[in-house]
Amino acid sequence: MSAKLIDGKGIGNQLRKDLAQDVAKLKEKTGIVPGLAVLLVGEDPASHTYVRMKEKACAKAGIYSEVHRLPAETSEEDVLGWVDKFNKDSKIHGILVQLPLPDHIDENKVIEAIDPAKDVDGFHPINAGRLFIGEDSYLPCTPYGIMKLLEVEGVDLKGKQAVVVGRSNIVGKPVALLLLRQHATVTICHSRTADLGAVTRTADVLVVAVGRPEFVTGDMIKPGAVVIDVGVNRVDDKLVGDVEFEGAEKVAGSITPVPGGVGPMTITMLLRNTVEAAEKCQ
Ligand code: GUN
Repeated sequence: MSAKLIDGKGIGNQLRKDLAQDVAKLKEKTGIVPGLAVLLVGEDPASHTYVRMKEKACAKAGIYSEVHRLPAETSEEDVLGWVDKFNKDSKIHGILVQLPLPDHIDENKVIEAIDPAKDVDGFHPINAGRLFIGEDSYLPCTPYGIMKLLEVEGVDLKGKQAVVVGRSNIVGKPVALLLLRQHATVTICHSRTADLGAVTRTADVLVVAVGRPEFVTGDMIKPGAVVIDVGVNRVDDKLVGDVEFEGAEKVAGSITPVPGGVGPMTITMLLRNTVEAAEKCQ
């Protein structure tokens, strides 16, 4: 058996076309052009690549974006100053501070300085709290993208066993809450879980966001499972996921490839959140 590939790139492209139409309509009706401000501090090559992709995607969808690339030595005070400026700028509807930040900058402090109404990453404690209690909020882009993929693929989560490997604030914890919201029975595990394979083998839906190349192997997957691989790891100049693809695709029912699975959906949902933020300004 060979798993069906879940085409995040294709699904993302279709959603971005729909979004471009929404942007054009909003502009025609109200004169508002959605605007995103991005702050990138330091030289992390992966962060620079992601930000370039976000910038390009904005331009293609008709969203105004400005990217401020700052040196790694930038002080926390300066970063907070930029955030304050974006909070007050009426052409900016969404603010994204690319993570990770250099060690001398307190990430939580910066995230908490962002106006929750412009927090298109959904990282502010107000938005994280709203997600926790089931109120409307900006959803973090990767978990939002994963849920969109599952919806488009017609995966019914009600009563299913969902296992999330990874417990980050960006992916693991929020995606677990969203799966729970769709009535899945959710288990969160991580790199230190004892006998991880015994847990992952119970999963009808397995989301892997642990940040370790090919950490989950085919023998850890239940036959027919839906496997969502969030990992992007560069190994010998090649991108690999957190799931060992060759082994996994022989067992899974469907699986996201790396690249071309979750990644394009993350950017798509960032655009979605930015457009939504602009629509709320009317
Ligand atoms: N770094 C890795 N993923 C993300 C993300 O979704 N948003 C931001 N701001 N930084 C990230």
